[in-house]
Amino acid sequence: MPDPIRVPGKLILLGEHAVVYGVPALAVPVTDVYATAAFTPANQPFTLALPDLNETHPLAALPADHPAAAAIHTTLTHLGQPAPTGTLTVSATIPLGGGLGSSAAFSVAIIRALSAHFATPLADATVSALAYETEKLHHGAPSGIDNTVIAYARPVYFIRGLPIEILSVGAPFTLVIADTGIAASTKVAVSGVRQRYDAHPDYFDTLFARIAELAAEARALIENGYPLMLGPLLDENHSLLQEIGVSSHELDTLVAAARNAGSLGAKLSGGGLGGNMLALTTPTDAERIAAALTAAGAVRTIITTVQSA
Ligand code: PMV
Repeated sequence: MPDPIRVPGKLILLGEHAVVYGVPALAVPVTDVYATAAFTPANQPFTLALPDLNETHPLAALPADHPAAAAIHTTLTHLGQPAPTGTLTVSATIPLGGGLGSSAAFSVAIIRALSAHFATPLADATVSALAYETEKLHHGAPSGIDNTVIAYARPVYFIRGLPIEILSVGAPFTLVIADTGIAASTKVAVSGVRQRYDAHPDYFDTLFARIAELAAEARALIENGYPLMLGPLLDENHSLLQEIGVSSHELDTLVAAARNAGSLGAKLSGGGLGGNMLALTTPTDAERIAAALTAAGAVRTIITTVQSA
């Protein structure tokens, strides 16, 4: 088997949901979790192997809207190639439905493994655009932030529909990521926000305008090397996400536990309703905050450092 392609997960620092409505959001790659894909040529029809699920499928047997099949077909069409003979093995350590970008990482890994097989390197922008096509199957009308940050594997300041802006990180900083253990559907969360937005557009526009201000302030702090001052911005973003209706009892419990343990600021991250939260910390306090999150019910914690790629 050729060396597998390894693709990071992602974390939205600030601006999820609002980003769907044109507000800037900040997101970073998380290399502590990842998806891998490798194509091994063999004398058999194209087969998709998913060892995490103990599943093997001939490509021809998968429905066209199966996310992995969609990523494969989209990539082959782009490359102008027929399905090669052999096995594409795809695996991931990124928890599914946790807001850490599992679906986009899966797609990006598939796209890169196939382009490597055909010795046709693709630009990050192309990989991102191809992955976006598959993200639509998962999310309906995604903003594109997941496929962008994962395809570029760099911190981004993302505005829907605009060219990507790489976020420079003036000083590294530490986050604890904690998983509620509740798999939640981003599609359900996003469509719930849409319904509430349509019922109260002026109210939601006010919330989104404030998130836009927080995103601009957060960007300045990160770029200028003052990340430890992000705490109050993260806390306020969490309150706004509660107003928007995408937090949950479990997320609020973990956010409170992190703050009580000395986190500088904490919020849910991603689609919400379950999935993961993040807590800003000094490196010294990270282990203690992770332990407090586990004691408060987190099923998994990750201590990660954000830095310029
Ligand atoms: O994939 P998740 O759960 O991290 O959510 C993506 C972020 C949202 O803003 C909720 C949706 C989107 O399309 O941007």
